[in-house]
This record gives sequence, C-alpha cells and structure tokens, in this order.
Amino acid sequence: MTRVTELTIRRPDDWHAHLRDGAMLRAVAEWTARDFGRAIVMPNVVPPVTTVAAADDYRRRVLDALPAGSAFEPLMTLYLTESTTPEEIDRAASSGFVKAVKLFPAGATTNSENGVRDIERVMPVLERMAVAGMVLSVHGEVADPGVDVFDREAAFIDLVLDPLRRRLPELRIVLEHVTSAYGVGYVLSAGRNLAASITPHHLVLTRSHILSGGLHPHYYCLPVAKGPEDRRAVRRAAVSGDPRFFFGSDSAPHLDAAKERATGSAGIFNAPTALACVAQVFEEEGRLDKLETFVALSGPAFYNLLASSSRITLRRREQPVAIPDRIMTADGPVTVFDPGFPLHWRVEVPDGQDEKTF
Ligand code: NCD
Ligand code: ZN
Repeated sequence: MTRVTELTIRRPDDWHAHLRDGAMLRAVAEWTARDFGRAIVMPNVVPPVTTVAAADDYRRRVLDALPAGSAFEPLMTLYLTESTTPEEIDRAASSGFVKAVKLFPAGATTNSENGVRDIERVMPVLERMAVAGMVLSVHGEVADPGVDVFDREAAFIDLVLDPLRRRLPELRIVLEHVTSAYGVGYVLSAGRNLAASITPHHLVLTRSHILSGGLHPHYYCLPVAKGPEDRRAVRRAAVSGDPRFFFGSDSAPHLDAAKERATGSAGIFNAPTALACVAQVFEEEGRLDKLETFVALSGPAFYNLLASSSRITLRRREQPVAIPDRIMTADGPVTVFDPGFPLHWRVEVPDGQDEKTF
C-alpha cells in the first residue's frame, strides 16, 4: 500500500482552547490561529468571563492579539457561577458570539474557584440553556479531595453528569477532554445530546509519561492522563468517525516557572504541535480517512455551525518538522508539548506566505 503523504481537508477548528490574557494571550494566540479557523475560547481567565459584556471585551482582546490579516474567529464561552442568571443565557444566545457555557466544578482545576459547588443552584440556568439550545461544556471531574485523582472523571459522570442528563435530557453537553475508558463508554451509551472533546496529549500520554523516568511537569494536566487501556479507548473513539467525539486541544499555557515548581500548575501548551500530533496518531491507527471528521466536521455539527468553507493541505515530510521547544512571552518562556516522537505532518503554507521558522 502506498503511504498517504498529502491530505486536503476542511480547515480544522479547536473546540477547547485556553488563550489566556495579557502577555500570554499575545504570545499564544498566533499559534492557535495558525492551524485552526475557529476555537472555543475557555473563560477561566482572571477575573473569569461571567457575562456577555465581558465575553465581548475578551473577544476583542483576542482579535487584537492576532497577527495582521488573520481570519481566525474566536468563539466565546461564559464561565458558569452560582450567580449566573437565566437572563444572561438569553443575552448569550442572542449575542451571536457566545457559543457555550462552561461548568467548572469549584476547585477542580486552574482558576475554577468561582465555579459551581452545588449543581442545584444552577438548575434554572441549565433549564434556560436547554430551551435556548446553548451548549454546556463541562470539566468532568469532581473536586472532592477524598476521591482518587484517577477516578475523578468516573465519579463526576456517576454523581453529576448522569443525574443531570436524566433531569434535563434536552440539554446539549460536551464532556470536555475525555480521558478514561469509562468516560468514552458513557458517551457511547448516551444519545446525541452528549459529545466529548479529545485532546492530542490524551491520545499520546499515559500516567507513566508523567511519573516515570523522573517527574515530567510538562505532561501534567487535568484531567490527568490515565492508564494504557484508557488511552486505547480514547484513541479508538477519536479515529472511529463517531460524530460525538471531536478535537479540542485543551491547549493550556502556563509559564515554565509556574509548571516547574513544587506545586506545578496543571495544563499543557500544545497549540504549536496539536494538529501534527493528531495527524500522526490517525496515521498510526491507519485512519487518516477519519481525520477531517474529527478535526473539522463533527465539532461544528455538534455546535450547529457550518464546517469551514476553506481547506488546508497537510503534507507528510520525510524529515521530522522543526518544532520550537518553548515559546517566549514578555513574562518568560512556555514549554511546547513534545509528544515524545518526531512529528512529520505539517500544514502547507500557501505560496507567497512566509513559512513559520523557529
Ligand atoms: C486548564 C488551565 O490551565 O486553564 N488546565 C488543564 O490542566 N487542562 C484548565 C482545564 O481545562 O482543566
Ligand atoms: Zn481546558
């Protein structure tokens, strides 16, 4: 069989990205905008984006941080708190630029302190979202310190997500960054109102990457990578072509100084390598024919948006492509996700444009 070395697909989107703010935003925005046409921009900046007015301001800051001429479209999200009102959901639904509301269980991850402690208190808002057709994007982990960190996704499904879906089956939910065989199985068992995003790093890493051969802070994120059976299930779901599983990078930059300390922050910055990494996984699995579905078709379909009308060409280079080890921000360096194997796929740059060099 001849090897596929060129693939033209609709321009991919990233259905879960942390672009941050200030100096970090200015350093990372171009990396997401390089390969992706749109991204669902997570609202856990400081202070969190809790209103449509704040989302509009943040959207402008993102647009300002893009390279001149970029056609990248940020799709905004609201950070759900116990004070969010149903009227704010109506404003979000009619804004045209807010595409989801994000539920962070309070204390589950980076900047989640203002998140939800008691789901009961947000039920009126979730009911309004179900009526408005607004997507609920969930960080699917319980924050209970009594639950083992590797079991927090499963516990969230049993204790929060499943009861919620039974109460409000019309609510459209994305279980973000699914990491476990249990989570994948749960999505498969559900109807079409539940989907899951999948990150490049959870297609590649297991907990051994974090914990053996020295401690690897740049492989630490939440939900934490799990065991080989879990990774297998996540890979199988990604390459299956099932429209309920789509790409969301969860690119989550932190300064190296914040990662490489006693209590290192959770989050992997993968925007520069995400697409190449996913392409390589699909190649390894012999499913390059499903890559477009995963990165460019299933996400927009779930969000009731059209797939991109533009196309990109991915080319497989014989020699590994050059990837920066880290990028620089005004506040210090940020290490780029290294999957631990050479990357060969690269988006072809149209004639006349400069190829990004490092
Ligand atoms: C994210 C971050 O840093 O904002 N961290 C992470 O480990 N994924 C938050 C999140 O998505 O959990
Ligand atoms: Zn995230």
